[in-house]
Amino acid sequence: MRAAVIGGIGSWLPPGLVSNDDLADRMDTSDAWIRTRTGIRTRYFVPPGMPTSRLAAEAGARALESAGTADADAVVLATTTPDRPCPASAPEVARRLGLTGVPAFDVSAVCTGFLYALTAAAGMIASGAAEQVLVIGAEAFSTIVDPHDRSSAVVFGDGAGAVVLRAGDPGEPGALGRIVLGSDGSLADLITVRAGGSERPHPEADPGRSDPADRYFSMRGREVFQHAVTRMSQSAREALAHTGWRPGDVDRLVGHQANLRILHAVAEQLDIPVERLVVHLDRVGNTAAASIPLALAHAHATGDLVPGARVVLAAFGGGATWGATALTWPSLKAA
Ligand code: UT7
Repeated sequence: MRAAVIGGIGSWLPPGLVSNDDLADRMDTSDAWIRTRTGIRTRYFVPPGMPTSRLAAEAGARALESAGTADADAVVLATTTPDRPCPASAPEVARRLGLTGVPAFDVSAVCTGFLYALTAAAGMIASGAAEQVLVIGAEAFSTIVDPHDRSSAVVFGDGAGAVVLRAGDPGEPGALGRIVLGSDGSLADLITVRAGGSERPHPEADPGRSDPADRYFSMRGREVFQHAVTRMSQSAREALAHTGWRPGDVDRLVGHQANLRILHAVAEQLDIPVERLVVHLDRVGNTAAASIPLALAHAHATGDLVPGARVVLAAFGGGATWGATALTWPSLKAA
């Protein structure tokens, strides 16, 4: 059986650094509230007109460079904020990378999107359909957040992270373990953009059937918090069972970077010391599908993640969706 092995990693953040104080100038919030309730200090917002495909291509180029290649047999993009509702953005990302002609498609699973995209790419490698796949998580979340909704406007940020998956052996460093995934559609209203799809028109298209606020992202934060802790802990436990590792064997837990209190609660549930958490949300906020690859790239670049480290990835997001996997961190060139 061929395994999918991480062979390169890269990330990119747009230029617009936004501090908590900057947000407090625009809405009724404070640096103290944001830091204590979420752990977030700064985030980056795209300038007007910078599409997700640009972020994705920048991160993708760096991941390819880290893998020592300019080629991929496919591009899989996890995003909640595609350039347009139709078509998918991945073909444009492939074009930007000089990969026109390869299969390219988007995966939509909100904050769990990167784990779903890894699954699709690993399946292509396992079946022999591809030798090397570029997997990207990219978001311009600031373009869908309601600027007047302080509970979500302070949480989300923009950015992109990417890995190159290549065919390899199950026992080698970087080989992805079993990816545990799940979903529950009855929780769709917890994290949603209500209008603009087939169910409910965009408010400008049919003002009678949609409220103006329905065009924006909305989240029932407190409920999401509880589900995130439960599902991330449960799926991480399942992923560990597949590898045969015990919680004490885990060197780094890379959870979806939504809220520091969620990460601490998951570590506690799993009986993993909080010192083993990779924390990146303080710099970039919640970047949804980009969150895990951005955290991995940062931890790799800063030496927080070293070759041989036993790593668990876990996420929860809209849908609801969740997932986890485990791997031994490989030796990679930083990009
Ligand atoms: O990415 C997908 C997964 N997403 C998540 O996992 C996010 C999970 N949820 C969360 O991280 C948290 O629920 C939030 C950070 C979104 C909100 O934190 P919270 O501690 O759950 O706050 P809350 O919504 O329960 O609100 C508590 C209070 C309220 O005031 P009252 O009713 O107690 O007077 C809010 O109005 O905090 C108030 N509040 C704020 N105050 C200052 C809410 N947002 C803000 C704000 N600044 N930005």
